[in-house]
This record gives sequence, structure tokens and C-alpha cells, in this order.
Amino acid sequence: MRKLIAELRAVTGPAHVLAEPDVVAGYATDWTRRYAGIASCVVSPGSAGEVADVIRACAAHGAAIVPQGGNTGLVGGSVPPPAGPAPAPAPVILSARRLTRLDPVDVGSGQVTAGVGVTIARLRAHAAAAGLRYGVDLASRDSATVGGTIATNAGGIHTIRYGPTRSQVAGVTAVLADGSIVGNLSGLTAGSTGYDLAQLLTGSEGTLAVITAARLRLRAAESPAAVLLASVAGIDRAADLLAVIRAAVPGLLAAEYVDAAGLALVRDVAGLPPPPGRGRTGLLLAEIASDRGDADDFLQRLARVRLPADTAIARDVTGMAALWAYRERLTEAIATAGIPHKIDVAVPAGELGAFRGELDDVVLQAAGAGGAGPRAGPASPPRVIVFGHIGVGNLHVNVLGPDPADTSVDAAVARLAAAHGGSVAAEHGVGRAKTGWLGWTRPAAEIAAMRAIKAALDPAGLLNPGVLLPSG
Ligand code: MLT
Ligand code: ZN
Repeated sequence: MRKLIAELRAVTGPAHVLAEPDVVAGYATDWTRRYAGIASCVVSPGSAGEVADVIRACAAHGAAIVPQGGNTGLVGGSVPPPAGPAPAPAPVILSARRLTRLDPVDVGSGQVTAGVGVTIARLRAHAAAAGLRYGVDLASRDSATVGGTIATNAGGIHTIRYGPTRSQVAGVTAVLADGSIVGNLSGLTAGSTGYDLAQLLTGSEGTLAVITAARLRLRAAESPAAVLLASVAGIDRAADLLAVIRAAVPGLLAAEYVDAAGLALVRDVAGLPPPPGRGRTGLLLAEIASDRGDADDFLQRLARVRLPADTAIARDVTGMAALWAYRERLTEAIATAGIPHKIDVAVPAGELGAFRGELDDVVLQAAGAGGAGPRAGPASPPRVIVFGHIGVGNLHVNVLGPDPADTSVDAAVARLAAAHGGSVAAEHGVGRAKTGWLGWTRPAAEIAAMRAIKAALDPAGLLNPGVLLPSG
């Protein structure tokens, strides 16, 4: 291991290889604190060429590589496993934190080239300064990176309008497991020359290549015209109300749901005032954007919708931010209450009510049956909080109480989503947490095809092993 670290230091310079155990442990633990592993060191290459040399050095020593961006992916995809197979050295974490090139916005093509270590917040500010918008936004914007969001095909609050990260990717450069550099950043929309590597690598969670930079599509900047916050008695009512709002005002920028339990917690932790409906029920939040300055027209159309009497509509920046706070501050509020089981799933719009109707019993049963962790089951009933991007059927089921090491509840919730025709992972990726469940929503032939691609591009299995694909 010492020899490998010395070789990596020769590639990047000594300052960019961290090997102190305490420091490495910080990188090897994800944001949730639920996933932690063992790594040899953390290396931060500063160019695609250095990434290639790092990969070659790791390959020569048989050391696996775990690419890492903001480490806020929530399913353990950006941290190593607790212990690898001996005698191979522990994996090397390849941090994107020095790959932060951000080119001037190409206004003609409406595109920009960004290094994978650029944060989403920086990218969005950069696009905005050129009068454009990057179509992905999420609460972790200050830490989430271009690379991490491409690796997981992250969605976020604007997926309803612009699609997930996949829809924004016009090209990438990446380093394959043999050290060759592939891809291009031309951003050409026309092109028909075979497999699209950029799209193949999007959502591949670092298992096929290490992406170093991306060419990203930008959108016309639309100023937010209004944010609407309505109290709704349950997710099915939220979905019904949203359908009516969408019919009246197409092209919503965001449509989010927070249930009553989430609302109570975020109010408590963040000290927020009572929202419409005095906080006894869930909330539907919808954001309307206006590219033609016709906010008044939108509001007139909204006036024809039968909204709950106490619906709040904000049109000024401060008022809109105040309404968003109930949704935006929820993740951090949940984290203060313990280590949550965070189960990111997709459920078809027509199944949301049925899914939610069965959820509590499924969780209760799994928590009772599971309880296999060291603490032998939760003392009090599990706390279930449901929120998320309701406009695209992407729900974040958070469960507090069961032992963090016990995955019974996670599996049961994912299985319920699959049983309702949904997906076991919607926007956080499969990571280490969900590999065993992939077969619940992907046919065996598709998993075999993915394995074949992985074997062809990474025959030694050096790139993020144990992530995305089930073992065996
Ligand atoms: C969100 O939508 O806030 C993120 O996906 C984070 C989370 O699931 O907590
Ligand atoms: Zn989300």
C-alpha cells in the first residue's frame, strides 16, 4: 500500500494524496453516516491525464477505485465497502475536488463545459450570470457535484420541467479502466456514429469509467413567477390537486410534496411558522416560472382552479423562499432526529395513494420482523416521513427508528414500490444499498446486458466494485 501511495503522490504531487487514517475515514463515510468503509487513501487528480495515471497505478496494484464527488448520494455509492477481499489493498477514493474547470458559457449553443468537481450551485450561478439556467437543482446544491449528479442521473426539484441529469448531458470526457481517455466535449446535437458513451456513463455510478468533465445543456432563464403552497390531506389529494393545477398551468418548474409528519419535524427543527392549513396535513408546493413575463396570466388561470381556501401564493423572492423552506430544510431536519433509512423510489402517479395507504403497515411489519440489528428492534414504532418530487412520482420515504444496520425496512419499502409498478431507485442511484433489489424492477436479461458491458469495459472489476450491479 505504501508503494501505491508513493506512486500516486508522484502523479498528483504529495499534497493531493491524503493517507492520514482520520482524514481518510471522513471521506470514507457518506453524508447519512449509514455507509462507511475502508480506503487506502484519497487522491485528487487535477486533470484527465492525472486521472489516467492514477487509474493505471491502482490497476497495477489491484486496488479498486471509488470515484467521489460531494458524497451526498445517500445510497453508499461514493464510499468504499467496510472491507475488501484480501490480499488486495483497500480501495482508493478518487476525489473530484480538483477537477473544477468551468469554461465560459457558450451562449450560441446554450451549453457549458464543466469539470466534474464543480458544484451544482456554482454551475447554476455561472449559467445565471450568462442569462441561462442549468436544469438540475437540488437541496444539496452546495455540495453535490456535476460528476456525482451525472453518475447517479440525479433528478431534483426541476425534473418535472427539464428532465433528470441525463437530459442535460451533451457529452463527457472520461477515463476507462485501462487508462484510455474517451469522449468529447463538442456538444454537437447532430451525430450518429454508434454508441453514445456520454449517455451510457450517465447513471453508471462510477462503475464503467471515471468521468472528468461534461458538456451540459443550459435552458432559457425563466424568472420564478409564483410559488403556491396548499394544504392537502394526504398524497392522493396532493396528486389530484396537482393534476388540476398542471392542466391549468402547464410547464410547472417544480411540484413537491411534504407529508404531515415531515411538516411537523421541519417546523420544529427549523423553527418555521405554521403554513397554510395550520400544519395539520401535508403540503403541496408548486412553482410556476414565466419566460414571457406573463405571470399575471398564469395567476388568472390559477384563479379558475378550485384551490384549498387557505392556499398561500407568494410572488416576491422572500415570500417564495419562505414557502420553499418547508421542503428545502426537511432533509437536514430529518438528519437531526437520527440516522434515517432513506428510501428513494418512484411510483406511478395513479398508484401514489395506494402505495401510501399500504406503507405504514409494511414498515411496521418489516421493522418488527427485522430488528436483527445489534439493538434488536426499535423501542418505539418507526417514524415514517414521506416527501419528494410528486410531479414525477419520485418519493423519498424516510424511516426513523430501526437500527441503521438493518435493511429490512428499506427492502420492504422498495418492494412495495416495485409491486405498484414503480422503481426501487429514482434519483439517488442504486449505490451499495440497493444492488440486491435491482432484479425487482429490471428484467434478468437487462441485468445480464449491464454485466456484459461492465465486464467489457472493466474486466478486472476495479471501478467502484459492489456498486450498482448485484454480486454473483
Ligand atoms: C431531496 O429531494 O431533498 C433529496 O433527494 C435529498 C433527500 O432525499 O433527503
Ligand atoms: Zn430528491
